[in-house]
Amino acid sequence: MAQIIPVKVFDAVVFGATGDLTLRKLMPSLYSRFRDGQMPPESRIIAAARSDVAEEDYRKRVVEGLHDHIPANEIDDALVAKFCARVNYRALDGVSGEGWEGLVQLLSPEPERIRVFYLATAPDLYGPICRNLCANALVTPASRVVLEKPIGHDLASARAINDEVGQIFEESQIYRIDHFLGKETVQNLMALRFANAIFERLWNADVIDHVQITVAETVGVEGRAGYYDKAGALRDMVQNHLLQLLCLLAMEPPVSLDPDAVRDEKLKVLRGLHPISAGEIATRTVRGQYAHGVTEGKPVPGYAAELGRPSRTETFVALKAEIHAWRWAGVPFYLRTGKRLPQKISEVVVQFRAVPLSIFPPPASELEPNKLVIRLQPNEGMLLKLMTKDPGPGGLRLRPARLDISFQEAFNTRYPEAYERLLMDAVRGNPTLFMRRDEVEAAWRWVEPIIEAWANAPEAPRPYAAGSWGPTAAIALIERDGRTWHEDWDGENE
Ligand code: BG6
Repeated sequence: MAQIIPVKVFDAVVFGATGDLTLRKLMPSLYSRFRDGQMPPESRIIAAARSDVAEEDYRKRVVEGLHDHIPANEIDDALVAKFCARVNYRALDGVSGEGWEGLVQLLSPEPERIRVFYLATAPDLYGPICRNLCANALVTPASRVVLEKPIGHDLASARAINDEVGQIFEESQIYRIDHFLGKETVQNLMALRFANAIFERLWNADVIDHVQITVAETVGVEGRAGYYDKAGALRDMVQNHLLQLLCLLAMEPPVSLDPDAVRDEKLKVLRGLHPISAGEIATRTVRGQYAHGVTEGKPVPGYAAELGRPSRTETFVALKAEIHAWRWAGVPFYLRTGKRLPQKISEVVVQFRAVPLSIFPPPASELEPNKLVIRLQPNEGMLLKLMTKDPGPGGLRLRPARLDISFQEAFNTRYPEAYERLLMDAVRGNPTLFMRRDEVEAAWRWVEPIIEAWANAPEAPRPYAAGSWGPTAAIALIERDGRTWHEDWDGENE
């Protein structure tokens, strides 16, 4: 049983309380922490949104959300009722400042408490909500504000939001969330690299040929087309989740786990990313959009049909990134993400170089280079592909074998939702797993030329059939370099 670290009494105020994120992720995560006894008795959740909903009706929505998004064996009706008693609802307008009295009445008598203001709203509301928090004297030294990604839609808007929020909150009080950093297996990347001597010494261009990061989803855009069509896969996934994974894989060992020590190292990676110039867009990037096809055995419409109109928004991105650093000179990082792909899977593949020469008799192709596959989700685990002697008499034949660890089998424990950890980290005041302003801006600086080049390109994103691994150009992107995407997900042929 994992150790539960106690936290001080807190008030969590969630703006955007009727939205998908709150009901699908935040409330279930808070319930799980409550169930594990991590919410001190006086702590409260204050849900705030524009809709004029009665508190009892809002609580019913919360209960529905818990049943929809938490496994049945983790739901206890009596506990759910106790949890809901902690949930207050206040209707208010985050922009105009109307209706804030109710929130002020709840919070003001408890000025010493930790306050977590979670902004699960569109990013253009972050500035106005912060101004209203300040105007209503709700920002105390023990307050933090949590900002959902994406922070803006380009560098200029991200800066403007950071400036606006920064006028009200100190940088140390601002928690920019990237929920990938809260995933157990993503934190495991740090454990793998810095708690084991064997990998870090090999973690460089001398030994590593290339790295692949794939975040594949089977879902389409579901009910989020309004947001997604303005964002696209580059802003929605690459600018944050994939680049953060890249940072954890590529950064130098931090001097400690101190929040700024870790974030300083990630920032160096982002700043070291080789900028993709307009002339390189065609060879280093691919964007696609799903057409109709079949996923998980069911026919599904294409993106434009789901949207009800044509669109140039990409639902798939493949990129070749390079890092300007001695450690990684000449080592490409191939990134790939998309909706309506054949499997929901997030994986990192570290492909090592081949042995310098083979002393084994032909066929030489028997010698496959080592490969480390880190499965981030689902079936979290790791496998290391090695060459071994094929057992039995006769010549010295070789064959690949796998050192394979499934975390589920090894530890047989529940994996908490990323938001559970991140919410509690915000309460505790630990920003290590949150993005600092300079990181967010450096990430935008790198993706912005790609956004611009795509916007100015006459071609639309390349279509791919739903249920396929994206446009064939994504295969060409890596095969031009004499490499292939790792698609042997279940390792059957390894
Ligand atoms: C979100 C994106 O940040 O991450 C979604 O906005 C995406 O489009 C989601 O589906 C994926 O997260 P997870 O935790 O399901 O892998």
